[in-house]
Amino acid sequence: MLVHAITTNAVYEFAADVRAGLTRPGQKELPSKYLYDDVGSALFEVISHLPEYGLTRADERLLRRHAREIVDHLDSPVAVAELGSGSGKKTRWILEALSQREPTFYYPVEISRSALAMCERELSDIDSISIVGFEREYLDGLLEVAARRQRGRHLFVLFLGSTIGNFDRPAGVKFMTEVRRILESGDSLLLGTDLEKPSTQLLKAYDDELGVTAAFDLNLLARINRELDADFDLGQFAHVARINHHARSVEMHLQSKRRQTVRISVADLRIEFFEGETIWTESSHKYSAEEVIQMARDSGFVCQAQWIDEQWPFAENLLIAE
Ligand code: AVJ
Repeated sequence: MLVHAITTNAVYEFAADVRAGLTRPGQKELPSKYLYDDVGSALFEVISHLPEYGLTRADERLLRRHAREIVDHLDSPVAVAELGSGSGKKTRWILEALSQREPTFYYPVEISRSALAMCERELSDIDSISIVGFEREYLDGLLEVAARRQRGRHLFVLFLGSTIGNFDRPAGVKFMTEVRRILESGDSLLLGTDLEKPSTQLLKAYDDELGVTAAFDLNLLARINRELDADFDLGQFAHVARINHHARSVEMHLQSKRRQTVRISVADLRIEFFEGETIWTESSHKYSAEEVIQMARDSGFVCQAQWIDEQWPFAENLLIAE
């Protein structure tokens, strides 16, 4: 696999984002994208096997069952771009269905180099698929893929696993609008969205018995310790999952067990926490199938088809750029 790597001021940007999030007046927060370093990506992989967390398995089931039908909606030929490919496991079914029609380029876009490597190991055996990875943020990567478009080829963008749910509703539609702007009319977007379900089920999914989600969340503090030379005492923070009924989301927070001060050398910071104060680390918004159709319209797409898993309510939505 060819990988277009990038050298950014990664540590400097991380430090700036940590500073901005922890010095905000009111609710402290950290951007959820930083949960996914090598340790975090491996822990998320474990989460996706937990009985309480059915989201990834529902996504995989739908793609496995309906890959053929999904691909039959597309005008050939296409090139595939995946935003946040992760391990690439669930993409296999789509790529296999496409490879039966014609040789196809697959462009995974990922900020994690180790995830790109996993993706290549997972998918390189499929005949007639050429993989070219981009180590980039989603929209930067998609811009580069679009710049390489061959005449007469449509782009087929995959945004799976309900990653859209990390954005709040307005930001989600804004993101889809930005994707639409990079695309041409007739291109398509396969969007995975987790659907609303009872609060008790959601709380268990985001605070599992084994404590894997807690470890995934706390790893963010461990990562700040490792990369920014900080002294978070992980034993003094607890993982909490909360339902936000107004936002229709599940939130993950790290709650300070007591009053304490933390030093973050690289960000040149001293942060005070009061007992019970939280850092908001991630939100996972849940949708109704109907509202996804409206979100598509609001961002310049038409929803051509939806496939819904009955076992764990989740929808695969095929959106066509108008
Ligand atoms: C990968 C963003 C879809 O929000 O359900 C899982 C991440 N966080 N458990 C989600 C996650 C805690 C996951 N996404």
